[in-house]
Amino acid sequence: CRIAVLASGRGSNLQAIVDAIAAGRLQAEIVGVFSDRPDATALERVAADRRWGHAPKEFSDRAAYEQALGDALAASAPDWIVCAGYMRILGADFVQRFNGRLVNIHPSLLPLHKGLHTHARALEAGDSEHGASVHLVVPELDAGAVLAQARVPVLAGDDAQTLAERVLAVEHPLLIATLELLCAGRLAEREGQPTFDGHPL
Ligand code: GRF
Repeated sequence: CRIAVLASGRGSNLQAIVDAIAAGRLQAEIVGVFSDRPDATALERVAADRRWGHAPKEFSDRAAYEQALGDALAASAPDWIVCAGYMRILGADFVQRFNGRLVNIHPSLLPLHKGLHTHARALEAGDSEHGASVHLVVPELDAGAVLAQARVPVLAGDDAQTLAERVLAVEHPLLIATLELLCAGRLAEREGQPTFDGHPL
């Protein structure tokens, strides 16, 4: 199973994939890490020949950036493309190009709290639980079919930071469990109806 990862920052989710592969839990290979920030820590988590780090400002416009990113990604021939802390909205053309192979990990219980600042918003809303979702990427932000979720309680005294840490701790096993199913071919299409692990999406 060939996995490509898009990441803008720290890359702890990417590291969880690296570790799961090394432990023999995930039968996969990371074929490339792609970042919109050439200085992202995430890039350092794979060998130099698997890194692509280019800022959009290096290109004439967003379409040219996404064309170059897409060409590099396609050259790595991924089965699955994981957005893991990739902080840029992907355009419709890009999403269409890789349709059905793009997943994202988002730190909320979707459809709650799409977009940014999810932990602060869960606290403001008075939610008693919070968590993370892995979903298919569609052009509309954080709106694709949810594949899997992990939940955590919101505790008295939490702030955005403590809540973020609790969520991150479940993101890693959630992402690995989901990738195991994706790599095993458990996302399928039956009579035009997509299913994941036997359940209709
Ligand atoms: C994670 O919380 C992810 O869900 C969110 O950004 C964070 C990225 O963390 N979209 P890392 O770069 O994987 O450490």
